[in-house]
Amino acid sequence: MKEKVLEILDSGRFIKGPNVAAFEAKFSRYCGAGYGVSANSGTSAIFMALKALYIGKGDEVIVPSHTFVASATPILMVGAKPVFVDIGDDYLMDVNDVKSKITSRTKAVICVHLYGEMCDMAKLLQLKEKFGFALVEDCCQAHGAEYDGKKAGSFGEAGCFSFFPSKNMTVAGDGGMAVTSDKKLCNTMKMLRDHGRDYGTKEGKYISTILGYNFRMSELSAALGRCQLKYIEQWSQKRRNIAEMYNESLTDKVIKPQAGDRRKHVYHLYVIRTGKRDELKEHLHRNDIETGIHYPVPVHRQPIFEDSRLPVTEKICDEILSLPIYPLLSDDQVSEVIDTINDFFE
Ligand SMILES: Cc1ncc(COP(=O)(O)O)c(C=O)c1O
Repeated sequence: MKEKVLEILDSGRFIKGPNVAAFEAKFSRYCGAGYGVSANSGTSAIFMALKALYIGKGDEVIVPSHTFVASATPILMVGAKPVFVDIGDDYLMDVNDVKSKITSRTKAVICVHLYGEMCDMAKLLQLKEKFGFALVEDCCQAHGAEYDGKKAGSFGEAGCFSFFPSKNMTVAGDGGMAVTSDKKLCNTMKMLRDHGRDYGTKEGKYISTILGYNFRMSELSAALGRCQLKYIEQWSQKRRNIAEMYNESLTDKVIKPQAGDRRKHVYHLYVIRTGKRDELKEHLHRNDIETGIHYPVPVHRQPIFEDSRLPVTEKICDEILSLPIYPLLSDDQVSEVIDTINDFFE
């Protein structure tokens, strides 16, 4: 990565260069999609996808509330109405609740493959077939995750990824990408991210045909993304190994995550549940083990959204705790976390 940074500084080409094109081609192929449109964040990628699907005023978009707020804010940005659904015990969108909230105004469903695990794609695709909504996959936490051997991002009209530094792969800063196998959607998203210009035409550079934005990814970011992509499979395997250690040796007094059928989990986060969450967090902190809460305030309870009632989402947010999980964590460190948690419950 350091060599690449110097190479690009020497080249003097910082924007719209070969690294962006190569990263888009390689990453979309990795996801099993035809095209990639890189962007400056995952949020921009979701926004571009909704906008390119012509979702706007008067439309409803179904989204889970147990997620990062940026799964839903792009719905407001395009002028549509978010309709929040509850989750199941696996923390993922409850497809029965999706079904119950479909109306004649439902234009799209955003399924969030949270914590590195894919949603129930078989059931979602059945609903899509029946009701004809567009499916946008929020894959910001699910690089390389699979359902029936197919990767996240290859099921919906578009799959949107984040390369923010905490993600399973990063561009060492903010970055994102929307992947799609729909050429028209890809072209519209390319125009949206670059001032509405259509590079498919001769005058493209100087003519803005639609209202566009500046969501471009830099050459430096794309080059770093290309380097990281080479390691993503081995990093995901390391994450799965750590999760296996936790699953095997953590006390049964906490609820541990279970990878669902037909899925390959990439454990962006390893989240346990306990009624003693705050005391356990404090105990781990006193023992120099940092943990996180993803997420303490559900999206539908954020001041920018209208409130609704989602019982499972509201119950679990006081009980969830994300334990350390990242490829450089050693087996000894994982054992230390396990011992410290098990000691707490003895
Ligand atoms: C589930 C989810 N959706 C959307 C986003 C937004 O991505 P970004 O931070 O790159 O805008 C993130 C990450 O931050 C996320 O975890």
